Amino acid sequence: MSPFRDRPRRLRLSKAVRDLVAETSIEASSLMLPIFVKEGIKDREPAQGLEGHYYYPPASKSLLNVISGALDLGVKSFLLFGVTSRKDSRGSTAFDQKGPVQAALRFIRRELGWEPLIFTDVCVCGYTDHGHCGIVRETRRGLVVDNDSTLEVYAKIAVSHAEAGTDFVAPSGMMDGQVSAIREALDKAGYADVGIMAYSAKYASSFYGPFRIVAGSAPRFGDRRSYQMDPRNSREAVKEALKDVSEGADIVMVKPALAYLDVISLLKEKLSGIPLAAYNVSGEYMLVKLGAKAGLIDGEVAMMEVLTAMKRAGADIIITYHALEAAEMLRRGYSPF
Ligand code: PBG
Repeated sequence: MSPFRDRPRRLRLSKAVRDLVAETSIEASSLMLPIFVKEGIKDREPAQGLEGHYYYPPASKSLLNVISGALDLGVKSFLLFGVTSRKDSRGSTAFDQKGPVQAALRFIRRELGWEPLIFTDVCVCGYTDHGHCGIVRETRRGLVVDNDSTLEVYAKIAVSHAEAGTDFVAPSGMMDGQVSAIREALDKAGYADVGIMAYSAKYASSFYGPFRIVAGSAPRFGDRRSYQMDPRNSREAVKEALKDVSEGADIVMVKPALAYLDVISLLKEKLSGIPLAAYNVSGEYMLVKLGAKAGLIDGEVAMMEVLTAMKRAGADIIITYHALEAAEMLRRGYSPF
């Protein structure tokens, strides 16, 4: 006679039973693919430092190909970042109708209509000569990133993206009041249909390293700790997220994701009813890639494990450089668990 009734291993005996009782699953439709559109190039070019990713010319066949390929795999949403060498102190190219993001949006809408769901990053760090996410001012405390004058720039960027055909804008600069400034500007310009995905809990993180190289957006002096969140805080994330929702955010985001799973889970609990996104950032992606390359981990299993962890923690949407690979695995019906 068995000495105990409860044998949890019964539910792990075969893949079929494990799949039957699995609590978490990943669908291609909840993955969002980041895409870099770059001015001044003729064809796609490898984005050095972000394995398997490319820069795409804003109006190009190669851009259409990556989007159509993703749509075929069930990945329907995209986060666009612009890359330019036309930089100044205010990041004016960010709201230029001929800027890389605006040009790409117009082209995508012309060629593919409204089928792809397009999100556009609203920030200036890739467009300013100093590499900060806002307007830098000389004050009695030295150089600071000025909050309120930056909001005017964000509002202009968001409206220019709306005009060019974005579905959602995604303010990532962590200025106070950015969501309400953008919501107001969009509504005033007649774009009530354009949503906001707020980078609500965006931490000052080392994991952005590869992205900053690719986007050319590293700060030329100082760091971002006076506007991005302190990694030691999670209650503050709740405050930031609630504030963004009250200002009009449709979706809130935690970024990075892997080192902040507790924050994802906390926001899931505190903000019921608001879709929650997790940004599996560039450094987190490259850790898996390089670990696999070094023969230390199985890259495919690690990828699915990481994405599943984000889902399990409570993310509804995962923004990830793994999106296409993961969707391909799902299409093949391959699950490592
Ligand atoms: C900037 C921005 C950053 C990322 C997206 N938007 C980096 C930063 O704060 O320097 C990082 C994304 C990634 O690492 O994948 N506003």
